[in-house]
Amino acid sequence: MNRLDQISLGKIVVIREKLLDAQRNGKKIYRFESGDPSFDIHQDIKIAIEKALKENKTHYIPNNGIPELRDALAKKLNNENGLTKISDKHISVTNGAMHALYVVYQCLVDEGDEIIFPDPMWTEAVENARLAGAITIGVELRPEDGYIYLAKNIESKITSKTKAIFINSPHNPTGAIVPKDELIKIAQLAIKHNLWLISDEAYEHVLYDGGKHISIGSLIPDYDKMISVYSFSKSFAMSGLRLGCIACTNETFNQRTAKLLRCTVNGINSIAQWGALAALTTPPEWILEMNNQYRLRRDLLLEALAGQDILVPFIPKAAFYLWCKVKEGIDPNHLSEEMAKIGLGNAPGDCFGESASTLQAIRIAFSCSTQMIEQGVGPLQEFLKNFK
Ligand SMILES: Cc1ncc(COP(=O)(O)O)c(C=O)c1O
Repeated sequence: MNRLDQISLGKIVVIREKLLDAQRNGKKIYRFESGDPSFDIHQDIKIAIEKALKENKTHYIPNNGIPELRDALAKKLNNENGLTKISDKHISVTNGAMHALYVVYQCLVDEGDEIIFPDPMWTEAVENARLAGAITIGVELRPEDGYIYLAKNIESKITSKTKAIFINSPHNPTGAIVPKDELIKIAQLAIKHNLWLISDEAYEHVLYDGGKHISIGSLIPDYDKMISVYSFSKSFAMSGLRLGCIACTNETFNQRTAKLLRCTVNGINSIAQWGALAALTTPPEWILEMNNQYRLRRDLLLEALAGQDILVPFIPKAAFYLWCKVKEGIDPNHLSEEMAKIGLGNAPGDCFGESASTLQAIRIAFSCSTQMIEQGVGPLQEFLKNFK
């Protein structure tokens, strides 16, 4: 069977298409299914893009990224993330973190290798690994652990076939942050078993309520099987511009990455890269302001969900998702469909992996505008009051 036939079309995409169809037919919809930041990009990014265009920076560029951006990213990763061994030659600019993960797996995986993932997990991170021929092994995240990815549960899944441990903190779909002591244990586990560690840090900047991000790579700067993945989509609301990067000091891995980038995309859109360079020097207050809005949106939803037991949310300090436990006896897929029928977007738990269906959950995203949240909480409350 062709590998692609084993990959889903994406359940959230299907839900989104239905919602947008309904919108075209005049129905009011609330985009609680989507993880796309509502904010406009910063003026500095727009100016940099316009300038690059005026200066005709539209020619072929190095396939691992323009030197100016790689240099700025290396500085950022050293100073902000504590990846002290990373220099510009260790960075590959990619078409978003999604493409970064695609590249990582293609460069690492031999047919039948096992990669360990948190479950639930943003689907594409896992399916991309299968696309490369990996067998994906889930570690169930439990509500009683605050959905934290625990080293002891990871260790129990390690076999002679394990190639890598994948980690995503802050986590999509729960918003959970893996604490430092657990990050240390996971890092030690990777070293002990000589495994690659793939850290997807797409939500590194989406933090509020005291949520803090630690890059696991900062704890083991000399470990060259450490691969760190970043995105401009969530941090700088640049989702449509498609910018991300991979940082790794391993020479063989970087040689493979360079070959794959050359033979596939041959470099990322040059103009978007100049925009990304400007994003790295936007004022920190801008990110703070976006995070204040995310917290406000989260709190509006929490308020709307208070005092009922059909959807019981985990309270996140990062990312922009409410992972809600669905009352026992109610089928989350049925609940999800009923919500969608009245225009309330959402993503049922089984979009996010095998254990997610036993976890009885749905995800409500709050990356849409604050106004949309304000307008949507009423219908959500009404729906839950009447749901049978
Ligand atoms: C955990 C995680 N990693 C990566 C991505 C992809 O980000 P990008 O837009 O940079 O491809 C997402 C998008 O939702 C995500 O949730």
